[in-house]
Order: sequence, then C-alpha cells, then structure tokens
Amino acid sequence: MQQITITTPDDWHLHFRDGDMLGETVPATARCFSRAIVMPNLVPPVVNAQLASAYKSRILAARPQGSQFEPLMTLFLTNKTTTQDIIDAKQSGVVAAKLYPAGATTNSAQAVSGIEALYPVFEEMQKQGLLLLVHGEVTEHHIDIFDREKEFIDQYMLKIVAAFPELKVVFEHITTSDAADFVMSSTNNVAATITPQHLLLNRNDMLVGGVRPHNYCLPVLKRSTHQQALRKVVASGSSKFFLGTDSAPHAKHAKENACGCAGCYSAWSALELYAQVFDELDALDKLEGFASFHGADFYGVPRNTTTLTLVKDSWVVPESVTLPSGEAMVPFFAGKTVDWKLV
Ligand code: DOR
Ligand code: ZN
Repeated sequence: MQQITITTPDDWHLHFRDGDMLGETVPATARCFSRAIVMPNLVPPVVNAQLASAYKSRILAARPQGSQFEPLMTLFLTNKTTTQDIIDAKQSGVVAAKLYPAGATTNSAQAVSGIEALYPVFEEMQKQGLLLLVHGEVTEHHIDIFDREKEFIDQYMLKIVAAFPELKVVFEHITTSDAADFVMSSTNNVAATITPQHLLLNRNDMLVGGVRPHNYCLPVLKRSTHQQALRKVVASGSSKFFLGTDSAPHAKHAKENACGCAGCYSAWSALELYAQVFDELDALDKLEGFASFHGADFYGVPRNTTTLTLVKDSWVVPESVTLPSGEAMVPFFAGKTVDWKLV
C-alpha cells in the first residue's frame, strides 16, 4: 500500500510542558492529532480543577490559528488528593487522573507513596467516571529497573483492578509482554497505550555501541522479546491497545548530560512512525483502530469525523529543533529516515 487515509487520530498520552515550550509542543501535536490527553506532571503539578482549567487555557492559547485541537485535561494524584478534588475535577471537565508512584519519573517527587491510601479516591473516580491513568513501575531501590513494570503488576495493578471493577484503568506506555498479557486477560475496563519508541526499539538501541540518551525514556526500553510482544498485540487489532506517544520534550543539554532526563520528543514523527511499524507488520489495516478508534471508544468520547492521509514517501527527521527559549532540542528519531509522510 502506498497511501492510507484514516479518521483523524488522537494522542492518548503526552507531555506539553508549560510556558514558552507550549509554542513548540502544541502546534507539533495539533498538526495531526485532533485531541490529546495532557499529562499533569508540571512543576508544580496539576493537582486540582482550578490548575487544570488554567493550564487548559494556556494550551488553547498556543494553538495555531484556526486549529480545532482539543486538550483533554488530567489531574496529578498525590497523597493529599481528596474525594472532593475528584468531584470538582469531574465538574470542570477533567477526564482522568494520573497515578505516578513517587519518584518513578520526571517531576514525580510529589506523587503517591502508599497506593492503598488512595483507595477512597479511586472509589470516587469509579463513581464519577473519571479514568485512572497509571505509570506502572515500582520505585523500590532494590528492584531492578528492567523488572519494575512486572513488579508493579504483581504488587498493585492486580489489586487495583480487582478492587474497582467499574473503574476504567489505562496502563500507560506499556513496555513488557507481562503488561500486554495482563491487559489482554483483564476486563474491558482495562486498556493500555503504547509509544512509538517501544514498538520501534529495544534496549540494544539505547546501549549498544555507546549510550544513546535520546532513546532513554521511562519505563526504559526492554529486551527484544518484549518489543516483539508489543508489536504482536498492536498487529492483532485488539481494541484494548491504543496510541499514546508519551512525547516528552527535554532540551538537548538536559538529555546529553551526565544524569540525562527521561523522555523522547516524538510529536514531529510519531504518527508516521506508527504507520511505519504497522506497515512493517503488514497490518496497515489495523492502524486506524489503534490511532483513531480504540482510545475514543475506551474514553467514551465520539470518534473524530475528519480524516487525514499518509503516503509512503521517505523523509529525514531534523537533527535538532530550536525551542522558543532559544535552546536546542533533539527530536526522537533525529537524523533517521521515516518511511511515511503526512499529506
Ligand atoms: O520518559 C518519560 N518522560 N517517562 C515519563 O513517564 C515522563 C516523561 C517526562 O515527563 O519527561
Ligand atoms: Zn508520560
């Protein structure tokens, strides 16, 4: 196939950041996505309805002229989150709340320690119909970084989904066959997002021949067998898996650093790279479900009614982009060839 037209997709997991960074990130996503679930890990985090509404206004103000792009807002759960915060969030249009185990990733120091203490909050979310979005990694020092996702399933995920059968849970950016199996064997109220990097790469792409900081994200890339398991589930067309880029910008100096930040800024190439993966898997007919239907259906929002077209035509991702701050940023897949192009 040389060309494919699909319903306009949505990005069910990304990081826009704030301030002048929005001048880069919002147009980059609005170029091809109709809606996006916006992560709340700002500094300070988006912990209530008021902060979410103010953040949404700043995102809307950064849209390109004439863009209909719609940000879908989320709340950052902490040990101080109350059931009233959930009620207020629902009323203000927030669609989901994000569970970051404390210290799991970028700007998560204020997040949750002692997940069971949040059960009353989960109970209220279940009642209000707010989705629970989970960064599924334990943070205990003695647990190997490559085992942290599986350990989270065993220690927490199984218990959460058993305790709240009506709560819709998104296992974000899954990276292992364990997570894919867990989601497959759970009820229809459990789904997962998958990033382009976890479909395209494995840990060799981060560590062989030198450390490649621009392929470093969390959860960290795993061994090839896990990558293959993720590719298999997306090619299956299962409606439990959908597009979430986890596009996460960091300036070049913060990535190319003795203690480099986690995150791949994929907004400029993510949709095209997903197309490339589905093409490699001979499953281009499954791209539209993954990118445009499964997420909307799971969140209970209407599918988009417009379309976009991708053609099989190669281009090279720029080596660097200049941020509104003047700093350089290296986009995901920089300097590499992408097989598909947005018309
Ligand atoms: O690699 C990541 N970067 N993983 C996350 O969970 C957070 C994100 C970020 O905010 O930079
Ligand atoms: Zn993320």
